[in-house]
Amino acid sequence: MRHLTSLNEIRSADVREILNLSSELKTRWSQGDRPDILKGHVLTQIFEKPSLRTRLSFEAAMDHLGGSSIFLGRKDAGLEGREAQSDVAKVIGGYSDVIVLRTFSQQLIDDFAKYSGKPVVNGLSDDSHPCQALTDAFTIGEALGRIDGVKLAYIGDGNNVAVSLAEVCGHLGMAFSIGAPEGYQLKPAFLKSLKKKFPKLEVEQFADPQAAVRGADVVYTDVWASMGQEEEKDSRSKIFANYQVNARLMKSAGPKAKFMHCLPARRGLEVTDEVVDGPRSIVFPQAENRMHVAKGVFVWCLERSV
Ligand code: CP
Ligand code: NVA
Repeated sequence: MRHLTSLNEIRSADVREILNLSSELKTRWSQGDRPDILKGHVLTQIFEKPSLRTRLSFEAAMDHLGGSSIFLGRKDAGLEGREAQSDVAKVIGGYSDVIVLRTFSQQLIDDFAKYSGKPVVNGLSDDSHPCQALTDAFTIGEALGRIDGVKLAYIGDGNNVAVSLAEVCGHLGMAFSIGAPEGYQLKPAFLKSLKKKFPKLEVEQFADPQAAVRGADVVYTDVWASMGQEEEKDSRSKIFANYQVNARLMKSAGPKAKFMHCLPARRGLEVTDEVVDGPRSIVFPQAENRMHVAKGVFVWCLERSV
């Protein structure tokens, strides 16, 4: 059974296969071709947190491929104690061909993979956001014409997005640097396992954002307070104040560097309007690509060909 619970759980060959499938399906979609590869298939999405891009891109992807989608919030699914989570997973598995989950705990996603009997896709947990990072690599390939050897500089919190980006860099031969304040960097245990899994990965961690972006082909940022950390919003705004991606920081990265953000953006905090709306920003093609990569993920999980 092919799950996408995290990028740590799949092989580099799988990552490349998902990106190739996504590329083929995007090309066909742009020619008006929407092959009904997943006709009669049902996607169930269960989300504990809000979403615009993830929910809609998976729904649109399933629709284009000829299937249909069901959406459940945490309460609807009975995950708040109505019945055992393993029973919920088994029942949902009986009605669905593929399941996407957005959760606080990564364990819930792993448990669904264990009990549902169907492919499970991580649509973001507190620990990781694999479909976002796959899309980001896909978008970099389109924007720069290459992925291997690209340097990606991530500025901000060492969160779920940063973790998955570091992993996708390991899979695809990109160099990864992160500029984050002490206490908000990638955890030493994660870095140790990352280096073990990807011995050739160039990964550097800096407290100085200017140092992190030097020589970067892509400057990437995300919110300073993720979903579930709302009460830390004010304290984090002070801690991260020097980590804003603005015109000055983009200048340090060099004239060709692109700007990326998974969105939603807190304009005026982690990024200025000038950068997010500027000519080097590729955030909207990046957002659209979530849909194209969602198709590649489904086709890979369900072991179909295009
Ligand atoms: N980037 C992303 O996952 O966006 P949503 O939270 O809107 O799904
Ligand atoms: N790190 C953010 C990403 C949102 C797509 C969060 O978890 O809220």
